[in-house]
Amino acid sequence: MKPNQSLNIGRGFVAKNRSLLAAMTNKQSHDDGALSPAEINWLVRRAKGGFAITTTAAANVTEHGRGWEGEMGVWGDHQLPGLTKMAEKLNLEETISLVQLFHGGMRAPRAINGVRPISASENTEPGMNGEYTRAMSTQEVKNMIQSFTDAAIRCEKAGFHGVELHGAHSYLICQFLGAKTNRRTDDYGGDIEGRSRFLLELIDSIRSATGDKFLIAVRISPIIEKAGIYLKDSLTLAKLLCQSDIDMLHISCWDVFEDVGDGNDESLTRRFRNVLPKDFPLVSTGAIWTTQDAQWLMNEGADIVGVARVGIAHPDWPMGLNDENFCPAKPPFTEDYLRSVELSDVFVEYMKRWKNFVVQ
Ligand SMILES: Cc1cc2nc3c(=O)[nH]c(=O)nc-3n(C[C@H](O)[C@H](O)[C@H](O)COP(=O)(O)O)c2cc1C
Repeated sequence: MKPNQSLNIGRGFVAKNRSLLAAMTNKQSHDDGALSPAEINWLVRRAKGGFAITTTAAANVTEHGRGWEGEMGVWGDHQLPGLTKMAEKLNLEETISLVQLFHGGMRAPRAINGVRPISASENTEPGMNGEYTRAMSTQEVKNMIQSFTDAAIRCEKAGFHGVELHGAHSYLICQFLGAKTNRRTDDYGGDIEGRSRFLLELIDSIRSATGDKFLIAVRISPIIEKAGIYLKDSLTLAKLLCQSDIDMLHISCWDVFEDVGDGNDESLTRRFRNVLPKDFPLVSTGAIWTTQDAQWLMNEGADIVGVARVGIAHPDWPMGLNDENFCPAKPPFTEDYLRSVELSDVFVEYMKRWKNFVVQ
């Protein structure tokens, strides 16, 4: 299999090649979470560049779960016009369009939301924003499942092909999955089966509220020691997710080449492939830059190759996959260059926070 070959991912969708633009926060949304023209432009430019699957930035399902300013929102109908415009433009480029749904949980500071952050449990440490979270009541968990579902319905109405549930990177879903961040004693806590219940109920709820052609992907982090996300549990979770009605599993590895450090030299991607059914679509992301990198990842068992940073700098990256020696320029990039590939000043400014990406 080659990175430029197509893949049937079910529900009537064929990925025209193996590239997926991973979710990237870009700070360009309006204060009310509505999309700005700049945010639409930057993403549509990547779809035009040939990405088979294009994911939006993390988009919040409630008004009070926001993690940062300029964040995309999907919690209200006032956001529908922008969402519809984005979906229409993406779909014209024959990409599969996904909205990444999330809630910040303990990473949603009072300074932005005006309320005390909530999570699976009270934080054991003050957390990134200096305030202990409040544990959600069982009823609040159910309400949150409804908020995710309403957001997915809104995405479907706007014309997106599906959603990716953001279960990675220590946001709310991940906080439920983590043994350290979830110490609940009700049905939503306990062992990995219990801690997965929130995510599995989310999936069921979205599946029954949306049409047969609506895609559901799930993104998880294989390991986050600080949150109590351990590889053994994540592999069990992967098996549970495959038995649920999702269409793709996405593992966020940050660096797919990194050794796990447990004496077993198999890559993370290979280990997930080993526990998944043979044809179940697996997306893996982290530090891919060249066609040879992409081919290596596919040889490790990924069906789809996720990229983020290279897609910022090289919007036509998927077209390069036709050349097995494709090796696009590496960072840092000048501000002028980044503007020339449809990044607004706000986004360029944000990229300065990513080490060595922008010439300073
Ligand atoms: C600017 C930027 C914003 C990001 N925002 C998100 C996000 O909203 N949701 C998410 O799941 N990951 C986010 N990530 C992580 C990427 O999706 C990706 O997993 C990570 O950058 C590693 O891939 P790469 O080496 O190809 O960049 C972001 C990464 C970057 C560079």
